[in-house]
Amino acid sequence: MVTLIVILAVSYLVGAIPTSIIAGKLLRGIDIRDYGSGNAGGTNAFRVLGWKTGLAVTLLDIVKGAVAAISVVVFFEAHPIGSLPEIDPVALRLLAGLSAVFGHVFTVFAGFRGGKGVSTAAGMMFAIAPVSTLIVLGIFLLTVFVSRYVSVASILAAVAFPLVIAVRRYVFDLGEGLDYYIRMFDGQVFIHDSLDAHLLVFGLIVAFAIVYTHRSNIGRLLSGNENRVNFGRH
Ligand code: G3P
Repeated sequence: MVTLIVILAVSYLVGAIPTSIIAGKLLRGIDIRDYGSGNAGGTNAFRVLGWKTGLAVTLLDIVKGAVAAISVVVFFEAHPIGSLPEIDPVALRLLAGLSAVFGHVFTVFAGFRGGKGVSTAAGMMFAIAPVSTLIVLGIFLLTVFVSRYVSVASILAAVAFPLVIAVRRYVFDLGEGLDYYIRMFDGQVFIHDSLDAHLLVFGLIVAFAIVYTHRSNIGRLLSGNENRVNFGRH
């Protein structure tokens, strides 16, 4: 039990590292939350701090989710404090990833006003379900390109993820191949019939969370005031 609490706490702290806020302070001496959409995330870093910083922030936020879902769990599986949690290893990884997403959104390091959790959730899911996450990344990029709304793409991607999992598993009978992927990271092999069921449940939780964190975007979309990507146009 103690190990589980420590895994969740460390994952939360990893997710809570406010990358865009740190970048804004270091590079411009500003609080990014006072500019653009007011969000402490990669998209707003693109908008306010430029594409290079935006890309770096987005990648770091993705890494936070992956590190929590894999590295933190693997470390404490190897060095448990007391007994190991009696939880399915896949569920444990997803719980750690979710804790990082929670930390990103409600960061203790910046007055509990963090980002919207999209990149960190993507990192968590990529670490566990890379193929489905790449399919969803395609949906995300296509939506950004066509609509020029990152928020619409984020919401669509979050909702698409559990659907992709369900279609691949239950329609086409394709698993995620997690056994191979996890072996690459931590030298262990897990083969779980319940993998896709876990991904489905956590995917639905993440989808609800992402829609929730995009409340202000949905309001702006409905009133026609949402920010659009310019792609170099002015
Ligand atoms: O990932 C956040 C994105 O979907 C929206 O960001 O800054 O336009 O609210 P923003």
